[in-house]
Amino acid sequence: FLKRRKTWNRYPPGPSSIPFLGSMLQMDFRQPQVSFTQLSKKFGNIFSLQICWRNLVVLNGFEAMKEALINKSEDIADRPRFPLYEHMGICGNSAGLVLARYGRAWKDLRRFSLSTLRNFGMGKKSLEERIIEEAGFLNSAFESEESQPFDPHFIINNAVSNVICSITFGNRFEYNDKRFQKLLHMFEESMKLATGFLPQMLNAVPSLMHLPGPHQKILEIPKQIMRCLKEIADEHKESWDPAHNRDFIDAFLGEIEKAKGSQETTFNELNLLFTTSDLFSAGTETTSTTLRWALLFMLLHPEIQSKVHAEIDRVIGRDRRPELGDQVNMPFTNAVIHETLRCGDIVPIALPHMAYRDTEIQGFFIPKGVVIITNLSSVLKDETYWEKPHQFYPEHFLNAEGQFLKREAFIPFSAGRRVCLGEQLARMELFIFFTTLMQRFTFLIPENQPKPQLKPCFAVTSSPHPYQICAKLR
Ligand code: HEM
Repeated sequence: FLKRRKTWNRYPPGPSSIPFLGSMLQMDFRQPQVSFTQLSKKFGNIFSLQICWRNLVVLNGFEAMKEALINKSEDIADRPRFPLYEHMGICGNSAGLVLARYGRAWKDLRRFSLSTLRNFGMGKKSLEERIIEEAGFLNSAFESEESQPFDPHFIINNAVSNVICSITFGNRFEYNDKRFQKLLHMFEESMKLATGFLPQMLNAVPSLMHLPGPHQKILEIPKQIMRCLKEIADEHKESWDPAHNRDFIDAFLGEIEKAKGSQETTFNELNLLFTTSDLFSAGTETTSTTLRWALLFMLLHPEIQSKVHAEIDRVIGRDRRPELGDQVNMPFTNAVIHETLRCGDIVPIALPHMAYRDTEIQGFFIPKGVVIITNLSSVLKDETYWEKPHQFYPEHFLNAEGQFLKREAFIPFSAGRRVCLGEQLARMELFIFFTTLMQRFTFLIPENQPKPQLKPCFAVTSSPHPYQICAKLR
């Protein structure tokens, strides 16, 4: 008893909580990373919170995060239960990738997904070619705007999403395809609905889900997405030839076939839908948001835009299409992309982790089952590490000779066991899409329009407010 009491004495401190709501009132759910950073100033880099009945520990700053994500990677590799998603059937061996508990099912699925993404080109030439081709379509769509102001949001979303679609579904979609536009809107809407006060309440008091009210929309949209994905999976099943896997869905159907009869397997039809949905949502919104930040930073920093133009002209020229091999010769453009990921702070609080076993971080005791929030934002903007943490400053990634400089605290994809599964794909896409656009256009704030604002909107990802742009041919 005394030993247990001694360990609990080392549980991280935190603000006081009130019955039922816990410390929820201390939080701004529209920008949780800001609340966390403020609380860390008062309670230190590792502090605790209570959201209704759930105990949370929030990790802040480079040192705490390094210890947790790298040295204690397995200790914090679990994910908490989300009754809201369990209500939709996302649980046990059918929890997809993103929300799966740490264990055999997740490991099998992650290994399979990574190797299948690789087989369909991730890290290989064929996928590079597909991205180059898609970047060409994106350029044409920008060109058709004829230098007039437009909001690039959904065109970029469509282009980025086409890359993951060509891996998972085996095809891309035209930018004016209404059915696909609807699917993209639904994914975006479901991400918005998944954040904020209401989902927290539903997770804390699951019985509320059975009552009528606005929260029913949170449940309805994912159901519609699943219906769309099921249609696509059924079409695949009808034309599937086990000897020739066309895409990720075909490969998954093969695994389902192999695992037939096993109760334990993660390869079942429901999980095919959840995994595809995970790849689709995780692979679209994040990369698309990063590209929108990149263009926004170019609008606000014309001098940096000119330097990128000059480097492209010097290394690639105006006629040849950019390719991945160019990256090593383009330290400035590479630094701009890294700085966009750092300053844009795309997934500021990552996804919730959970302690897989009792553990200790920076001398604090974290018991098994406690939800752990990794405030990546506090590392990407750590004032003790970065020279100009709150400014867009590509020099963060350049040495005195102008060569590219890797930085240890650059963890926009998180790190450790749960590190982003699509990091390599995202890096390829960002370089090719960004460089191809910059080779062809100068981006300008439309005349008589105010400067776009830098304040982000939070919905799992942190994205820029809608803005208009003029893409002038160079
Ligand atoms: C997880 C960032 C692109 C698939 C994550 C996490 C972050 C992240 C922070 C949470 C890691 C954690 O829990 O600690 C990003 C950023 C991207 C990006 C900034 C683009 C700029 C992609 C792409 C894919 C993808 C293109 C698709 C292949 C995933 C998956 C997970 C994940 C499946 C869950 C991994 C797991 O729980 O095992 N990502 N991501 N991401 N990402 Fe990405």
